[in-house]
Amino acid sequence: MILCANFKANKTRQETRAYMAVVESFVSANDITDTIIVFPPFTALEHDPRNVLIGVQNGYPVKNGAFTGEIALEQLEEFGIKTILIGHSERRHILGETQEQIAAKFRFFAEQGFLIVYCVGEPLEIREQGHEALMAYIEKQFEGIDLTYSDLVLAYEPVWAIGTGLTPSNSDIELLHGALRMKTTAPLLYGGSVKVDNAGEIMALENVDGVLVGSAALSANDFCDMIAQAV
Ligand code: G3P
Repeated sequence: MILCANFKANKTRQETRAYMAVVESFVSANDITDTIIVFPPFTALEHDPRNVLIGVQNGYPVKNGAFTGEIALEQLEEFGIKTILIGHSERRHILGETQEQIAAKFRFFAEQGFLIVYCVGEPLEIREQGHEALMAYIEKQFEGIDLTYSDLVLAYEPVWAIGTGLTPSNSDIELLHGALRMKTTAPLLYGGSVKVDNAGEIMALENVDGVLVGSAALSANDFCDMIAQAV
């Protein structure tokens, strides 16, 4: 299983350090062999610790250069970071990243050999049009993306389930992940209101290889509780 905690724009350096200490000791004390990835805010990036991967929530697809406000490869290399989240719905729908920009990031960080957690997912109005429309929408999010990339992890996050407490039914998740499995052999994560009380059943579903958790993972103890449920 792959379990990811996405802090988004939350936590300070100190809070992140305290969080990592709890999760790292839980992982080593329980001989956890699952892949655990924490995506803290940029200011809290640290060198990869012993048994938990630290990932970056975004990066600009250049080694360095005149791109005000961006974080380029050179800055990430200082931390030894080689895991990146790309295509998150908040970057698409709140920050206005286009599929072309997202695909350029994918290509660049794939060339650098990064582990890429690539996010796709639909807004409610698309879901309400049915499975065919949903898959057509997600297909557009694959434009310019190499689904055969060896270090790809694909995360399905229905936009309407993110931060809302709502999740698709287990059968809906299975249907969608089954359709994604036909497109790639990459591990498939589910994200969108995953919590302590539903993480275990979601991870037990066929074609679910892990979870990408936001608000519920801001508590280190709750994230450890979800890790403990990985089957
Ligand atoms: O990247 C994971 C995130 O988008 C899910 O958020 O708060 O619904 O777990 P949340």
